[in-house]
Amino acid sequence: MSPSTSPSKEISAIKGTKDILPREVRVWQKVEAQAKALFELYGYRELRAPVLESTELFEKGTGETTDIVTKEMYTFSDKGGRSITLRPEYTPSVARAIIEHRLYLQSDPLRFYFIGPMFRYDKPQKGRYRQFHQVDIEVFGEKDPAIDAEIVEMADTLLRNLGVRHAETLVNSVGCRACRPAYSKDLRAHAQSVRDLLCPDCQRKITTNPLRIFDCKIESCREQAALFPKITAYLCQECRDHFAKFCSTLDLYEIPYKVEPNLVRGLDYYTKTTFEIVSAGLGAQNSLLGGGRYDDMMKDFGGPDLPAIGFAMGMERLISVLKVEPEASRFLYIATLGEEAKAKGIEFARLFRRQGVESLIEFGDRSLKNQMSRANKLGAAWTLIVGEDEIRKGLFQLKDMASGTQNEGTVDNLLKIVREKAQDSK
Ligand code: HAM
Repeated sequence: MSPSTSPSKEISAIKGTKDILPREVRVWQKVEAQAKALFELYGYRELRAPVLESTELFEKGTGETTDIVTKEMYTFSDKGGRSITLRPEYTPSVARAIIEHRLYLQSDPLRFYFIGPMFRYDKPQKGRYRQFHQVDIEVFGEKDPAIDAEIVEMADTLLRNLGVRHAETLVNSVGCRACRPAYSKDLRAHAQSVRDLLCPDCQRKITTNPLRIFDCKIESCREQAALFPKITAYLCQECRDHFAKFCSTLDLYEIPYKVEPNLVRGLDYYTKTTFEIVSAGLGAQNSLLGGGRYDDMMKDFGGPDLPAIGFAMGMERLISVLKVEPEASRFLYIATLGEEAKAKGIEFARLFRRQGVESLIEFGDRSLKNQMSRANKLGAAWTLIVGEDEIRKGLFQLKDMASGTQNEGTVDNLLKIVREKAQDSK
């Protein structure tokens, strides 16, 4: 067989990635628009950082003992020999950008949001992808626990506005550099005493960072982790006070929450507050969003000593728990008969589109009957019929596809009808 006739193998999307097709994209666009509008209401502005970052950024930021850095990063050498990573999360990128552009010297609030793809080489399953999308928000320069509560309230409002039910807010404090070492020491000793019951990976974590044992997804390790000492008993006075004020501000906002002492979250940078919103509807990957405070990252990156807090929500997980009503179609199909009519149809399509009416004209030669059935199949709200007779008379037929009623009129009159009906149905 010649190369042109040999059947070629279908190429599929890479494992753990997926296409988001037009009908689903409509839902994404709505969620994105609502999220952005809400964040702007709270004084956040969009910051767009590159997908590619230096590997060092995540080693330093996300943390060298995390599963993300040890196992899940898409890292490669570029042609210049630099070690590059497709961002697995957004937080370190924002901190880097603030320092690089000295944004802390400007008068704008240091509140940022972003919606975009992240990449983690994890085992794909329901709710877990290798390319997924996060809605991310970050705040810098606020150390008062009231901001911790405000961002939880903002997340809660977004979920409520989107109609998400059955979500639960979990909160905790993971302490700070002053009080965590004593906890890590006791945790290490405890984990060592049950070493044989832990998986090889967790056995390694006993030395590197025992806190990371809480991230293990293996059931037997989870059972052991549930029996480990709780950080709550080790918090210093400052962390204790911070947590108490965070919780009392959540009460002020009337946000129900549950204190979950094992919620240490899988990233090394957290200090004090951590939180997650989980949804039973999600199955095993039940975290809709997660976040917390990371007061040391800016100074660890060589920037100013600015406290910070943020969260990220998984778009795929969010969309999967939304109840979506199918959208009513609002477009006009222009059916034409003959060359002259096609030219007129093109003119009308431009006119209608300029007036904000979604219009579709198909250019292949088709009978009128065929075009009417196409309009039906595609879900047009109206069909405008343009034939040579109609052009001569200057009067055209507009068919309302749902009711079947037909109106005859000049194109301006018909345009008026379409616009009025579109307005009524809004
Ligand atoms: P994270 O908990 O790693 O936190 O991810 C946040 C959210 O992203 C999760 O709750 C989940 O909805 C979604 N997600 C994570 N991994 C996947 C995956 N493989 N497939 C689908 N969805 C996923 C962070 O990334 C932190 N940067 C959050 C943060 C911002 N903390 C402070 N500021």
